[in-house]
Amino acid sequence: MTDRYAVIGNPVSHSKSPLIHAAFARQTGQDIRYDRLLAPLDGFEDTVRRFFHDGGHGLNVTVPFKREAWDLVDHCEGGALLAEAVNTIKREGGELVGYNTDGVGLLRDLQHNLGFAVTGRRVLLMGAGGASHGVLQPLLECRPERLVVANRTPERAETLVRHFHGFAALAAQGLAAKPYEALAGSQFDLVINATSASLDGAMPPLPEGLFAPGALAYDMMYGRETAFLGYARARGVVCADGLGMLVEQAAESFRIWRGVRPQTVPVIAQLRLDA
Ligand code: ATR
Repeated sequence: MTDRYAVIGNPVSHSKSPLIHAAFARQTGQDIRYDRLLAPLDGFEDTVRRFFHDGGHGLNVTVPFKREAWDLVDHCEGGALLAEAVNTIKREGGELVGYNTDGVGLLRDLQHNLGFAVTGRRVLLMGAGGASHGVLQPLLECRPERLVVANRTPERAETLVRHFHGFAALAAQGLAAKPYEALAGSQFDLVINATSASLDGAMPPLPEGLFAPGALAYDMMYGRETAFLGYARARGVVCADGLGMLVEQAAESFRIWRGVRPQTVPVIAQLRLDA
């Protein structure tokens, strides 16, 4: 019997996860089926329970259900507990176990694919929603010199930073929250866009002069040139979109489910060719 997996979200028809996992399965010789699963906005839990009741093995969870998935699972592994967001569910015996592979995906893309070492660097994380929650702990574990979280609604950034200070006091030493206007005069080696501003063709209100020489601008979105990457490129900054992160988080989910980590570089290259 072929083991069944799916990505669950709303909307989900645009998701590249089935393509990515099919490529991983071919490459590693694993016999799996991986579908898209559309859940009604008020029917996430029912859809998940039915999937596993019908013999499903694992789910990827995407927008807007990562927080609900965190609530639903029987327990969390790794960074998912602190992130309060789950993007990978594995059925283990009678239990649903939640993981968050977004942070690992981001860090692998930054450090392995892009050759950018986070340790000792000045990092600006824009946004204080689910996307930032998922990557904050793995970023902190790399011990950047500073990690500033900036958000349009400053209180949300403060709440997020307090949450991580409370749980990871040591690692969170360089962690601070700031409104965008308070960034004026600072410089960063890495600026990550974890906001949803790009969906409206907008970007966060960044003061000029934030990019340190040799800085990297990273946008978690993929599939189009965002306003933020356009802004950074116009200032001569090296840019990366979130396609590598997408494939790397998928590879980590695949490893959790199947016990084997697929090669990501050829899959990223293929997706770029197809785009
Ligand atoms: P997600 O789970 O994708 O992170 P979210 O929880 O709705 O979604 O968070 C979206 C993030 O993008 C928030 O940090 C939001 O800022 P606010 O907390 O002030 O709403 C940010 N965001 C969205 N549009 C933005 C814009 N035009 N400029 C700056 N930040 C924006």
